[in-house]
Amino acid sequence: MNLHAPTPESIERAADLLRRGELVAFPTETVYGLGADATNRDAVARIFAAKGRPADHPVIVHLAAADALPQWARAVPDAARRLAAAFWPGPLTLILPRGPAVEGIVTGGQDSVGLRVPAHPVAQALLAAFARRGGAGIAAPSANRFGRISPTTAAHVATDLGDAVAMILDGGACALGIESTIVAFDDDGPMLLRPGSLGIDALTRVLGRAPRSADASAPRASGTLTAHYAPHTRTQLIAAASLLSEVRQRLERDEDPAVLARGVARPGDFAGTWIGAPSDPPGYAHELYANLRRLDAARADEILIEALPNDDAWLALRDRLARAAAGSDDDRD
Ligand code: TXA
Ligand code: MG
Repeated sequence: MNLHAPTPESIERAADLLRRGELVAFPTETVYGLGADATNRDAVARIFAAKGRPADHPVIVHLAAADALPQWARAVPDAARRLAAAFWPGPLTLILPRGPAVEGIVTGGQDSVGLRVPAHPVAQALLAAFARRGGAGIAAPSANRFGRISPTTAAHVATDLGDAVAMILDGGACALGIESTIVAFDDDGPMLLRPGSLGIDALTRVLGRAPRSADASAPRASGTLTAHYAPHTRTQLIAAASLLSEVRQRLERDEDPAVLARGVARPGDFAGTWIGAPSDPPGYAHELYANLRRLDAARADEILIEALPNDDAWLALRDRLARAAAGSDDDRD
């Protein structure tokens, strides 16, 4: 098994492996990342092969600190600078004009690059050890197979990608549990490409207004494809008010649904998989991907998920559930 506790020794070894062009999975505060040396084209190509990810999907470069920005971005708008100052290290990715030295494989051929300074102490320690060896940035998408459920534990990574990575640093369950918020910038100002762990209210406080939502001019991002973060089992969202009657109908048809509820309590006579998720957004996010994996593993006929409230606090979670439902299928190979 290539799972390792994040000791000072294993972190040094992980940094060595990265410098040699190997893949290392590591924890961040959002989800686990599948890391490669961002300046090594062959190493980054290995990420795409391991994930089964199409080549035109860019990967985020993780940096030790914001002062590395000039190496990666040829311009940093004032709004981006303010967001970085407020939220880095943390769950925010900035899409900026790509610097001349950035490898095309990292940017998926686009003229921009995604940059993030993660807050997780293991990610920070790894970036520091990597920098001591002359490393500049670690390219890392979420450490799952393309289109599937993101990993929030080292065991999730081992299940999805175990053989493809030289080492997995086990930092326990990720505190936040869903991916970073992605903000891009153009002449019309900041634009939200992917809602995520950092809320709109926090962005709005620093920007002085809400970022506009992604429009047709937005650069394509795989996390923004309709089908993503998906279980294999067919998945449907159901309004809280009709969850119980929808479950009843299926039981009457002798079907076996697996349920992710939030407010609705499990009926006494329900014998299948019923997960009661935390009722607050941070708690719900922390457990979301592990819950989706449990529901999928139940091999039920169908997954039913209680729809979430309609306010901004649940925006990123509604986004992930909608994509999970759109991307599910009955193909379990
Ligand atoms: O929380 C996170 O952001 C995690 C951790 C590991 O840092 N990473 C992550 O990476 O979610 P990934 O590759 O699974 O999702 C990053 C998204 C993708 O949809 C990618 O297409 C988009 O960011 N992206 C990266 N660079 C981009 C760019 N230059 N322009 C537009 N989208 C970009
Ligand atoms: Mg991903």
